[in-house]
Amino acid sequence: MICCELEYDPSLSFLAGPYAMNPTRPESDPTRAAPAVDLSLMDEVVARYRGQRGAIIPMLQAAQAIYGYLPRPVLELIARVTQTSLSKVYGVATFYAQFYLQPRGRHVLKLCDGTACHVKGTPKLLTALQDAYQLEPGKTSADGQLTLEIVYCLGSCALAPVAVLDGQVMGHMRQEALLRQLRRRLGAGRETAGGDGATTVEDVHASAMSVPLSAHSE
Ligand code: FES
Repeated sequence: MICCELEYDPSLSFLAGPYAMNPTRPESDPTRAAPAVDLSLMDEVVARYRGQRGAIIPMLQAAQAIYGYLPRPVLELIARVTQTSLSKVYGVATFYAQFYLQPRGRHVLKLCDGTACHVKGTPKLLTALQDAYQLEPGKTSADGQLTLEIVYCLGSCALAPVAVLDGQVMGHMRQEALLRQLRRRLGAGRETAGGDGATTVEDVHASAMSVPLSAHSE
């Protein structure tokens, strides 16, 4: 498979991820203790794929389903089990948008910033999020509750601007409606969205509009 030909070269800055040795990054500090990872949770997965060099992707998927992301010890384990190099496993994990090398928040908000959504107001949504939660794209809030990700067209441009919160689609999103949905989801408020022109999840479902959530996010 093409993806299995990918090799990670630490000298290539554009591939430098959270595991690259970089003295300015706290996670690369050799004196810093790595978070404990219970590799026994992978026992069943290891038994299923041991020695299968082509099993990198299913093992990565299984590991992420277990841990929520891909800790380095798990990547090392997968490299050993599939009898391949860590750089190759890392190359696969960084190639696909479905894989995460760092923990994500309990809730994940995706904002579409494709052309239609950008024109219809995504920048204002981003400003509202930064003001309310000091949340930047690609980052997780300090309390670990919310991760913000930017995607580029979910195939529902007629609903622009579109936000997806924990897999639920919200179209025609406006700042106040978005913040209300977040407060409700994060448990800090009891309001419900609607009444200001935003199309809620229920509205989207009622109109039977389909949004392909499997769209590539990068
Ligand atoms: S640009 Fe956002 S759904 Fe198409």
